[in-house]
Amino acid sequence: MVDTQLVDGSGRRIDYVRMSVTDRCDFRCVYCMAEEMTFLPREQVLTLEEIQRLAGIFVGQGVKKIRLTGGEPLVRKGIVGLCAQIAALPGLKELVMTTNGSQLVRLAKPLADAGVQRLNISLDSLDSEKFRAITRTGDLQQVLAGIDAAREAGFKRIKLNVVVMKGRNADEVPALVDYALERGLDISFIEEMPLGNVGRSRGESFCSSDEVRATIAQRYQLIDSTESSGGPARYVRVEGYPASRIGFISPHSHNFCSTCNRVRMTAEGRLLLCLGQENSIDMRGLVRRHPTSDAPILQALGKALQHKPAHHDFSVDGEVQIVRFMNASGG
Ligand code: 5AD
Ligand code: SF4
Repeated sequence: MVDTQLVDGSGRRIDYVRMSVTDRCDFRCVYCMAEEMTFLPREQVLTLEEIQRLAGIFVGQGVKKIRLTGGEPLVRKGIVGLCAQIAALPGLKELVMTTNGSQLVRLAKPLADAGVQRLNISLDSLDSEKFRAITRTGDLQQVLAGIDAAREAGFKRIKLNVVVMKGRNADEVPALVDYALERGLDISFIEEMPLGNVGRSRGESFCSSDEVRATIAQRYQLIDSTESSGGPARYVRVEGYPASRIGFISPHSHNFCSTCNRVRMTAEGRLLLCLGQENSIDMRGLVRRHPTSDAPILQALGKALQHKPAHHDFSVDGEVQIVRFMNASGG
């Protein structure tokens, strides 16, 4: 018998896997990508069948939650069918997705019907020009219509993700909070992480979660909450708006590594044990070498988890330490 739970070298139980289904995206967000990107050749990306098989292996090992990410997961052909197959895995409690919202007018309903329970949708600005400047190629109206479609489609929860940058969208924090509260959506404000060389210095635009929170507290009465989504966010509730939660994700200022319950898999099938370090295992090589037997894959997985780092190490001055782009590792 192979062990049916994934436990890492520090005793943390791994029950959450984020899987990137593509490194491609129709946006080029300034904090995520360079203007000109070279994407992976097709044969280096996991096939839908390989992703499905790996999801099944994780769930067989006690993983309860899978998040599909990218790049932009909805630009991958066949994504809705993949979602339906993963959602049907016995033992999986939650299938969720992170998306930029650009395809949701068309896909929100099919995704909800396929069994995706929650969506995280990026929304960095409510001003068309600023939105275009941040995403480089994105169309705000299309994303807002996508959010409306998602609200109609029957997801259990929808959360907006905002990467806050001084000089770009920090002044829009109150407007974004109002937008979320009026619609009963959750919203998380994220400190920019130093991933990949995106062609500019990040120190100048860094905005801490404490600053964001202070801005919101000027307008709303915030109630501290002990709720956790099993992730690095701290949450507050807002007096008078029971449907929404506001989250603050602070990879810089608050160390959350000790409760880290997750691993990430890149579109090429590299299993990253920690976002802040380079340790990884080549799951693509394993599934391609062992098309019919899961045992060698389980063995490699168990061994690798012994080396999941106890801490990550980002520095606040924004020096690039990890050469991977965010789209490669899956938000
Ligand atoms: N820092 C923080 N968050 C990032 N994301 C992408 N790149 C970064 C970064 N450098 C997040 C965005 C997006 C999700 C896919 O990943 O919030 O919503
Ligand atoms: Fe695409 Fe998301 Fe990266 Fe923006 S943050 S470029 S939407 S993958």
